[in-house]
Amino acid sequence: MPTHHQNSTSHLLSSGYQPVAEEVTLPFPTVRGKLPTELDGTFLRIGPNTLGSHDPARDHSFAGDAMVHGLRLRDGRAEWYRNRWVRTDRVARALGELPTPGPRHGLSDNTNCAIVQHAGHTYALGDGGALPTRLGDRLETLDRVDFDGTLPGGFSAHPVLDPLTQEMHAVAYEPGRPGVDYLTLDASGRVRRCENITVKDTPMMHAFSLTDRDAIIYDLPVTYSARAAAAGSRVPYAWNDSHGARLGVLPREGGDADVRWMDIAPCFVFHPVNAYGRGRHIIVDVMRHERAFDRVPLHPSESSPTLWRWTVDRTSGTVTEAQLSDQVQEFPRIDDRYTNSPYRYAFTVGLRPGQGAALAGPALLRHDLVTGRVDRHTFGAGREGGEAVFVPRAADAPEADGWLLGVVHDTATDRGELVVIDTADFTGPPVAAVRLPVRIPHGLHAQWAASG
Ligand SMILES: [Fe+2]
Repeated sequence: MPTHHQNSTSHLLSSGYQPVAEEVTLPFPTVRGKLPTELDGTFLRIGPNTLGSHDPARDHSFAGDAMVHGLRLRDGRAEWYRNRWVRTDRVARALGELPTPGPRHGLSDNTNCAIVQHAGHTYALGDGGALPTRLGDRLETLDRVDFDGTLPGGFSAHPVLDPLTQEMHAVAYEPGRPGVDYLTLDASGRVRRCENITVKDTPMMHAFSLTDRDAIIYDLPVTYSARAAAAGSRVPYAWNDSHGARLGVLPREGGDADVRWMDIAPCFVFHPVNAYGRGRHIIVDVMRHERAFDRVPLHPSESSPTLWRWTVDRTSGTVTEAQLSDQVQEFPRIDDRYTNSPYRYAFTVGLRPGQGAALAGPALLRHDLVTGRVDRHTFGAGREGGEAVFVPRAADAPEADGWLLGVVHDTATDRGELVVIDTADFTGPPVAAVRLPVRIPHGLHAQWAASG
């Protein structure tokens, strides 16, 4: 096992992490290079952006007020850039606006993690049981939803959309709710199944994996911490050596009694890459952290995530664990058409060693999981980027043939840009960059919302 890197949190003080203080609407920002005309839609990026005073030494790095950034691309032009706070109760009150309509559930309505589209709607999603917030085409907050009353508890930051069935699956957890909920939403966006799965200690389950047959539940040793809660943490979870670590293989239509639990080495996973079945095996690729939320309660400071493959053997009920790449990296994305299917390519953000909890890094990596080859797209001196989303060149394009879209922050100018990288020249310069006169702070997840 690699030793724990001495992670620094100093990157949180760098300019790329500083929240922006206002919402702006910028028509026709400058494009350098040539924006592919096939890109007709809106690039979305969400993350924490505290409204009001912000103190990285006191505030949990995951708890800042949700802000969504968007760039509308059409006909080879960028029609607009916008950034908007999601109207949580706290933000609406601070801005002197009416509260967001819709139900309220759980500890927080701060949906600052991810953006997903399902059944014709766009949702901002939070962790720890927050209800989804529905967003409009211009990034405005519409309402909070419980899927027409079909959601029994909270929701998840990382549901998985099955590209074949158009059903959305999720594992939801929240402080105070026993077990976790395995949810299946039908193609119309209503929960058609909810199975409560028994786990102890209320583990953090930021995500899970899905194949065409099974859900794979991560029961890992970051668990609810009453001490952190009493100390006022807005994310009261901590590493727990006594919890153990195991994967639960749950048939998609099964229940609690059907879960097969298999022990693995203690670790934490925020983000799966992909998963699929292969004969009696299940391949589960993840960004594996050796440890998280141990020494520093406000930040997963000991993280040095790398790419691992868990091979689940259904016959023996065991898991083989293998590191596929020892480079520090996070924020994996694939060609989403290959979700739950055998796949070859993964894109991740290459992070600086010692900054494994950073939200951005100096490069994007492309993994060829068949040959083991890793290609590197570097952003250039003083430039760092976060999660990049893949858009296929055409509906029938080969796997991973298209463009990667991601936000880059330039330290010298303290400004942001959207870069468009053609995977046909992955290591070359971007084919286009939309340059903004403002910063887009490093944040969490990105999404491409194709128009129509
Ligand atoms: Fe996430």
